[in-house]
Amino acid sequence: MSDASQPNSPDLERGIPETNLADGGMLVGQVGEDAVLLARRGAEVFAIGATCTHYGGPLGEGLMVGDTVRCPWHHACFSLRTGEALAAPALTANSCWRVERRDGRIFVREELSETERRMPAKPRPTAGPPDQMVIIGGGAAGYAAAEMLRREGFGGRVTIVSADNDPPYDRPNLSKDYLAGTAPEAWIPLRPPEFYAENAIELRLGTTATALDVAARRVMLSDGQALGFDKLLLATGAEPIRLQLPGAELAHVRTLRSLADSRDLIARARKGSRAVIVGASFIGLEVAAALRHREVVVHVVAPEERCMERVLGPALGDFVRSLHEAHGVVFHLGRTLTAIDAGRVRLDDGALLDAELVVVGIGVRPRLGLAEQAGLAIDRGVVVDQYLETSAPGIFAAGDIARWPDAYGGDSLRIEHWVVAERQGQTAARNMLGRHERYTAVPFFWSQHYDLSIDYVGHAQAWDRIDQDGDIAAHDVALRFRRADRTLAVATIFRGRESLSAELAMEQGQSP
Ligand SMILES: Cc1cc2nc3c(=O)[nH]c(=O)nc-3n(C[C@H](O)[C@H](O)[C@H](O)COP(=O)(O)OP(=O)(O)OC[C@H]3O[C@@H](n4cnc5c(N)ncnc54)[C@H](O)[C@@H]3O)c2cc1C
Ligand code: FES
Repeated sequence: MSDASQPNSPDLERGIPETNLADGGMLVGQVGEDAVLLARRGAEVFAIGATCTHYGGPLGEGLMVGDTVRCPWHHACFSLRTGEALAAPALTANSCWRVERRDGRIFVREELSETERRMPAKPRPTAGPPDQMVIIGGGAAGYAAAEMLRREGFGGRVTIVSADNDPPYDRPNLSKDYLAGTAPEAWIPLRPPEFYAENAIELRLGTTATALDVAARRVMLSDGQALGFDKLLLATGAEPIRLQLPGAELAHVRTLRSLADSRDLIARARKGSRAVIVGASFIGLEVAAALRHREVVVHVVAPEERCMERVLGPALGDFVRSLHEAHGVVFHLGRTLTAIDAGRVRLDDGALLDAELVVVGIGVRPRLGLAEQAGLAIDRGVVVDQYLETSAPGIFAAGDIARWPDAYGGDSLRIEHWVVAERQGQTAARNMLGRHERYTAVPFFWSQHYDLSIDYVGHAQAWDRIDQDGDIAAHDVALRFRRADRTLAVATIFRGRESLSAELAMEQGQSP
């Protein structure tokens, strides 16, 4: 990963020849201390901040698509005209700069103010706009929806009801840099506390929605109150599956879903202590990497013979294992736990492992209780149509609970990815305002292990073959998961632009 600012990049205040920027081209230059991305589309030249507002990805290494640019790290999309963060995971607009053209040269000197950016006028909400929007769940989808309602100019009441005691936060970081101790807690909230008051988003934290009355347009809350709504978004996410075996209820047997869970793991992860991770999944192995950073002795126990083979295939699975082994993680694959006591776990081959901490990462199940109770259509998730509306008109669902018709693969999907949940929240919000916008985004996730990120676009539940281009060990590879000569998904390491191109092709219905 590289920084957006480049020491030898051109000084845009002094200007560059127009011929240095071809049609469809991008380059990064400096305006004083600021790195600015110049992009040309036909006769138009745009200038926005060169650094992604999500985690600082270098937009100059991304992909220009029409008058937008996509970030090579986690696929956020920005308007080149205004800097607006059009698609998650970036939620904050980028800076936008005035472009001057004179005597065959392009100059950038001045950042545009909010009003000068000329954000395109949003279509007005439909006739008789709703007054009261209620969002159940303060996670990825719920937060993104609330923010989008305001961004789209909705002036009525917006309420987020969240069982969590913390305001919306960056959940993926809980198993990565935050858990490793390399990201401070200040980075974890998606917004500072004042954001909610400033945007009139009512946050009802520590409050569970206990029942949903579709006919009466009312949701009952754990504090005894009832909340009426015109439109409702269900975004209750998923919860970790627990172990069912003797000792599983002991205090040192933990799962990781919330910020409170991650804080608890940090408090227990003392240097030199011993942890057993149950499950060689993404979260299990990310936790392993984070705990190794804290010099915890880590053993991973999982029933499968290969890590992550079902999602990433054998070669990438073996590589992930070897990467963790090189960092001192000890694997016990093909094994399950049979019992846990205060300081040890027992495996099914009789082996005993010391463990002051046991972290269970054996998957999650969607929180469907509310939708089931309300009588909404359920099929291994809350069934939604292409507009993310459930079987009850005016009630939408997004994120880990939603099963939607996937435009590219043609299957119905329910996926547990951060970016999918945020983008669904954004689309659902627009549809709560009557925009009638189809959800067509191609699924994307990333998983971080030490200093390496695996990026994955599309979704392959099963495949006939995997085509490999490049060298996994050299950290420069693209793997195409193919079925019947069609690429269903592409996994890459350090090939951000290729991942973006694959995403774009799938959006256009082409097999990358
Ligand atoms: C540790 C960790 C790391 C992850 N890393 C990645 C990653 O690297 N990349 C990736 O793509 N994905 C990652 N994920 C998955 C990603 O975080 C989820 O897919 C995403 O958060 C789902 O968003 P959501 O809005 O559906 O649910 P959530 O973000 O889980 O939010 C659900 C919210 O609903 C609340 N809630 C539940 N029931 C009720 C109720 N009845 N009443 C009120 N509130 C309720 C919960 O308290 C919570 O606030 C990770 C997940 C975890 C736990
Ligand atoms: S850094 Fe750009 S999307 Fe994450």
